[in-house]
Amino acid sequence: MEPTVVDIKDEWKQGAGLDEAGYAAWYAQSLQDPDGFWGEQGKRIDWIKPYTRVKNTSFEPGNISIKWYEDGTLNVSANCIDRHLEKRGNQTAIIWEGDDPADSRAITYRELYEEVCRMANLLKERGVKRGDRVTLYMPMIPEAAFAMLACSRVGAIHSVVFGGFSPDALAGRLEGAASSVLITADEGLRGGRKIPLKKNADRAVEIAGKAGQAVDTVIVVRRTGGDINVVEGRDVWWHEARLTVAAECPPEEMSAEDPLFILYTSGSTGKPKGVLHTTGGYLVYVSLTHQYVFDYRDGEVYWCSADVGWVTGHSYIVYGPLANGGTTLMFEGVPNYPDTSRFWQVVDKHKVSIFYTAPTAIRALMGAGDEPVLKTSRKSLRVLGSVGEPINPEAWNWYYRVVGQERCPVVDTWWQTETGGILISPLVGATKLKPGSATLPFFGVVPQLVDNEGKVLEGAADGNLCLTDSWPSQMRTIFGDHDRFEQTYFSTYPGKYFTGDGCRRDEDGYYWITGRVDDVINVSGHRMGTAEVESSLVAHPLVSEAAVVGYPHDIKGQGIYCYVTLMEGVEPTDELRKELVQHVRNDIGAIASPDKIQFSPGLPKTRSGKIMRRILRKIAEDDFGALGDTSTLADPGVVDDLIGNRQNRK
Ligand code: WTA
Repeated sequence: MEPTVVDIKDEWKQGAGLDEAGYAAWYAQSLQDPDGFWGEQGKRIDWIKPYTRVKNTSFEPGNISIKWYEDGTLNVSANCIDRHLEKRGNQTAIIWEGDDPADSRAITYRELYEEVCRMANLLKERGVKRGDRVTLYMPMIPEAAFAMLACSRVGAIHSVVFGGFSPDALAGRLEGAASSVLITADEGLRGGRKIPLKKNADRAVEIAGKAGQAVDTVIVVRRTGGDINVVEGRDVWWHEARLTVAAECPPEEMSAEDPLFILYTSGSTGKPKGVLHTTGGYLVYVSLTHQYVFDYRDGEVYWCSADVGWVTGHSYIVYGPLANGGTTLMFEGVPNYPDTSRFWQVVDKHKVSIFYTAPTAIRALMGAGDEPVLKTSRKSLRVLGSVGEPINPEAWNWYYRVVGQERCPVVDTWWQTETGGILISPLVGATKLKPGSATLPFFGVVPQLVDNEGKVLEGAADGNLCLTDSWPSQMRTIFGDHDRFEQTYFSTYPGKYFTGDGCRRDEDGYYWITGRVDDVINVSGHRMGTAEVESSLVAHPLVSEAAVVGYPHDIKGQGIYCYVTLMEGVEPTDELRKELVQHVRNDIGAIASPDKIQFSPGLPKTRSGKIMRRILRKIAEDDFGALGDTSTLADPGVVDDLIGNRQNRK
């Protein structure tokens, strides 16, 4: 039998001294007196003009407004760099580990300062001003962090687009953010394969241009030296330009509520939303969580294996660790290149103390057996973290026992792009662990479970996860669409922020996230709106209708299952199936690749024409004994056909 509770071991005691009772006391205070609690915590960062007002937030329908430290001013890059220079100028800020194990680089805080200032000066030279949007489409190289910090230095708003997205997806985000400056690289490198970033960027700029969004500057970092097209006047080589600008750039004084970044994320309907985060509250919260969740200690090497294209990379590769004067590791490669020992080799090579990754990677590596882990030492490891999707107890236990040798606590951190930072998680040394549970809320976080009618559920219960009050790193709005912000997050259960997640609370008050309850699926920890895949499929000339659902997948957590109705007279062939998969990949990117396509002459619809997704989900899950009531269908006969032709799962 696996343990259901893992007690706190003596050697897990927090460096900062926080224990179980301390957590409880701080948590209680954070709810009783948010102004007092956050007023005090706000001092962990440097303010140019100190705040006098701490919390000013409202979840009231029609008046959703979230402000923290609103009259304070600061600069985020100065907090992540300048203030550390005196004490840590020669300390490594960023360790970069390349795709090729022979490639690595260490960047000190002093060097980080100079590179960020140079990039900031280059942005200014190209006309970038406070409030302008700068889009990044970057591989996992230090220049991605330089560019983010450079934006924050000049007060520009960065919008990082994951390097795996297609030219179309990038173009949509350039348009959405009305961004005329793009920072990219010649090519990316992952698992020994080249990714044509600049080529994709050129195409995206062309598409955006046709849609009315001109991009007049493309800064290109040379990564592989591969052949690219250079557009005179528009394209700027970073390695050349950096020699022509000063390595000093005074930071802009920004208000706590000025935007820091936009990050596009999928929702259950429509196009991806530009989630907007601001400077002050965000930085306070990500630095505080980075310290207490992981028990980050001075001088340690901390490694989060996410990509900077996702929120985890923003908050826990760049901003949190650097605000804390930490050493953060950036990894360009993948877990199974050159072989499945790579993660642990990197841990040994750089003496990593804290390692933070996603369940999908853990499951994939677990599948490769214990040997690739056991042949490495891992003795530097002290803490293991998980994020992105529910971690099944089996994977949790493997991570704990085999990777961490039962020496390292596993912190399962639940949060979202929208929340900016970790909201539900154990704190190393202060929380007893339960494999598969994200455990307890962080300071200031008030989870609530409600049923589908919005009735509040008390005690042990299973329901929809809401948050009843604000926390400092909460998203402030959807860029350019405050109504959609209110509609998306505050209208399902008025007066509360609805997360879109299902959740169980047990007798001990521990939270167990059960997954999305909306039409968002989580594929390898990446959020995907089923509506996005559907609209890509129906844009194919041979497709008449499509419905997309998730199904359980051993490695990815969820796979993408598509029901496709073809145009009258079109033959359903394997060729066409492949073509449709490729079509979606081209449209959105490889992360949206359909796993299963079932050609279905009809979809189950109500008499009013609404597709009954519940039925499609059950069939995709191979759970067609439990279809429930199908009598309201316009044509109940389609269900038999769907069951008969389902695509067997692998
Ligand atoms: C899911 C990633 C269970 C959840 C930081 C959430 C999790 C969505 C966990 C957000 C976890 C994230 N346990 N589920 N520890 N962490 N999720 O915006 O469904 O990419 O709503 O942010 O991932 O994904 P996002």
